Amino acid sequence: MGAGFWVFSLCHLLLSVTTASLHQQAFIRAQDEKEKPSTGCDLFQGSWVFDNSYPLYDSSQCPFINGGLNCQKNGRPDKLYLKYRWNPTGCNISRFNGKDLLQKLRGKKMMFVGDSLSSNQWESMGCMLHAAVPNSNYSFESRGLLTTISFKDYGVSVSFLKNGFLVTQENITLKLDTLSMTEQWKEADVLIFNSYHWWLHTGKLQTWDYYQIGEKKTWIVFFQGISTMHNRGYDWNEPQVQNCTGQTKPIEGSNFPGTRPAGDGVVKSVLSSMKKPAYLLDIVLLTQLRKDGHPSKYADVPLDCSHWCLAGVPDTWNQLLYTILMEK
Ligand SMILES: *[C@@H]1O[C@H](CO)[C@@H](O)[C@H](O)[C@H]1NC(C)=O
Ligand SMILES: *[C@@H]1O[C@H](CO)[C@@H](O)[C@H](O)[C@H]1NC(C)=O
Ligand SMILES: *[C@@H]1O[C@H](CO)[C@@H](O)[C@H](O)[C@H]1NC(C)=O
Ligand SMILES: *[C@@H]1O[C@H](CO)[C@@H](O)[C@H](O)[C@H]1NC(C)=O
Repeated sequence: MGAGFWVFSLCHLLLSVTTASLHQQAFIRAQDEKEKPSTGCDLFQGSWVFDNSYPLYDSSQCPFINGGLNCQKNGRPDKLYLKYRWNPTGCNISRFNGKDLLQKLRGKKMMFVGDSLSSNQWESMGCMLHAAVPNSNYSFESRGLLTTISFKDYGVSVSFLKNGFLVTQENITLKLDTLSMTEQWKEADVLIFNSYHWWLHTGKLQTWDYYQIGEKKTWIVFFQGISTMHNRGYDWNEPQVQNCTGQTKPIEGSNFPGTRPAGDGVVKSVLSSMKKPAYLLDIVLLTQLRKDGHPSKYADVPLDCSHWCLAGVPDTWNQLLYTILMEK
C-alpha cells in the first residue's frame, strides 16, 4: 500500500472525528447562507421530473466522454435515465443555453479542480458547450495533470486539473497550510473545486485563505458538494438491492430515505466561515435521488456506482452552475 492510501485513511479518520462535533452547528449556519439567486429560490431542493426533451446532448456526438462514463456506447440498454430534469421546488430555472454561457465567459477560463468526480462534471460541461456550437473550432490538450478544452471562437477554455488533495503533499505528510498547483489555479476566472480533503480545513487547521493568492484578481469560486454513491439498497430502503445495477428510475419526490453523508456539515461549516464566499453546489439531495444514474456494469470497471453516465446527472450540476453564473 502506498503513501496515498495512508494519507487517505488518515483523512477519513480525522474527518469522522471533526464531523461529529461540527455537524449540528454547521447545519444551522448553512441554512441561512444557502445560495439563493435573485429568484429567491433554493436551487438544490426539488425533485426529478420526466422531460422528453432531455438529454441536453447526444452522447455519441460528444468527443470528450471517457470510456467508463459513456454508458450508451458501453451497451446500457435502458434510456429512461436520460430523460429527467431537475425541478427546484420554489422556482423555474431556464434551460441551459451553451451559446449564452460562451458569450458570458468570452475570453475567460473556467477550471475544475479535483478528483474523478470533478472530471465527470468537466466532461459534461465540455459536451454541453460543444453541443451548443457543434461547428465551432475546439481544441483538446493535455499537459501533465491539466487537460483543457478550448472553444477558440469565444476564447473560452474549460480545464480539468487533477488534484485529489488540493494541498501540497510531501511523502506521507500533507502540508495543510500550503495549496498545491496554485500557479495553475491562478490563471482561472471561474474555479470549481472538489475534494474530500478540503473538509478538514476547519478551526486551527484552516490557516490559509486562498483568495489572497491572486492579489487583485476577482475569482468566482464554486465548491462541488458531495456526490452520492449507491452501493447498497439499504441506504434507500431497499435492503434486498445490493448495488446500483438494474436501477432505471430515480427516487420520486424530494426526500431521500437515508441520511446526509458524513462530512456534509463540515463542508458547509468551512464555506460559511470563509472570508469571501464560495458558492456551494449542493448536489447531495439531487444525487441521492438518482440511484439510476451510475454506469453500473456499463463502465470500464466491473461495477461503478459512484461516477455518473454522460449524458446524465452532472449535466444538471452544470445547469445549476449556469443558473448562478448567468446572474453574475
Ligand atoms: C413555474 O412554471 C409553471 C408553468 O409555467 C407555473 O405554473 C409555476 O407557477 C411556476 N412556478 C414558479 C415558482 O414560478
Ligand atoms: C479551425 O481551425 C483550423 C486550424 O486553426 C483552421 O484551419 C480552420 O479553418 C478552422 N475552422 C473553422 C470552421 O473555423
Ligand atoms: C521523502 O522521501 C524521500 C525518499 O524516502 C526522501 O529522500 C526525502 O528526503 C523525503 N522528503 C521529505 C521532505 O521528507
Ligand atoms: C450487484 O447487484 C447485482 C444485482 O442485484 C448482483 O447480481 C451483483 O452480484 C452485485 N455485484 C456486487 C459486486 O455486489
